Amino acid sequence: MRSPLGERFLCQGLGICMRTIWWEDNFVRMIDQRLLPGRLEVPAYNNYQDVAWTIKEMVIRGAPAIGAAAGFGMVLAARQSQATTRAALLADLERAGDVLRAARPTAVNLSWGVERLLRRAQDPALETPDAIRVAMLAEAQALADEDVEVNKRMGRNGAAVIPDGARILHHCNTGSLATVDYGTALGVVRAAHEEGKRVHVWVDETRPRLQGARLTAWELMQDEIPMTLIADNAAGLLMRTGQVDVVLYGADRVAANGDVANKVGSYNVAVLAQENGIPCYSVVPTSTIDLNLPTGDDIPIEQRPAEEVTMVGGVRIAPEHVAVYNPAFDVTPHRYLTGIITEEGIVYPPFREGLRRVKETAEARRR
Ligand code: MRU
Repeated sequence: MRSPLGERFLCQGLGICMRTIWWEDNFVRMIDQRLLPGRLEVPAYNNYQDVAWTIKEMVIRGAPAIGAAAGFGMVLAARQSQATTRAALLADLERAGDVLRAARPTAVNLSWGVERLLRRAQDPALETPDAIRVAMLAEAQALADEDVEVNKRMGRNGAAVIPDGARILHHCNTGSLATVDYGTALGVVRAAHEEGKRVHVWVDETRPRLQGARLTAWELMQDEIPMTLIADNAAGLLMRTGQVDVVLYGADRVAANGDVANKVGSYNVAVLAQENGIPCYSVVPTSTIDLNLPTGDDIPIEQRPAEEVTMVGGVRIAPEHVAVYNPAFDVTPHRYLTGIITEEGIVYPPFREGLRRVKETAEARRR
């Protein structure tokens, strides 16, 4: 069993270290991100239906983190199955994969995680259900471990474009909590900080779920990285008055042409950045690149419940029965991006060829 102890985050403030998600004593454990920063709870789950629920309800969230949850969810599905033949187990796993995949539609990492585990299970060298179960746990562990390693490489690659003294505007939460550990765009911030560069982060609060105010602010404060929380609507003023040097955010899916889907509001800051001559980067592991989709118009955009907009912290702020439109993500057309930072290097426009190259390099490395 792998130790749940990660390397850093939470160490300073709370005297403990952990990843966002890990396997422990036949359960998958994860930090309940709905409760942060007020309470730190790490519930444990022993069936894949509950894991699908945690993804849908955003107990766990962030594209790479839900990819890891899909991996462990598939392990649970294999253990829940009563199948005594290889074929019957594979059929049960297909059904479980469909349930996990349906939990949230936008982040491609979710189906990527399911498919990686299915491929492992289908290996003809695994002749018995028990052999498949053992191999699947090792695969889900490897997926989680690789996520941390990939994020660190991505962070180092991205740190190259962060000047000393940079004032960085960041949207949503892309840190340890959005991944297994370390983060994507916040991983770049961490890497620059670890290299000794002075950085300051403008943290978009990120309405309606407030991932910036609740999670990014909390993580940066744990790591003592200078930051200031802003209302999303303050980003324009900061950029127009020369107080932002670079904009960073993650992505839940990158189409083959470089259009990126990320937390709603990302498009706004990218347009503002271009208008004000500020570089804007999306930071993604290659698992987030979906070469099957030609453009961002093909990316499914999740619609979330009205209560996320009408309620804040359990308090109603809008009239009863008001009509609400609540897309969780938007698409930034690739022309607004200066570059896409990955673990295999930074891709610059035109994106199509570069995205294919980094994807192939990452797949070759994994083989
Ligand atoms: O709805 P969420 O909180 O899961 O959205 C997360 C984001 O939009 C992140 O920016 C994205 O997953 C990339 S960062 C790992």
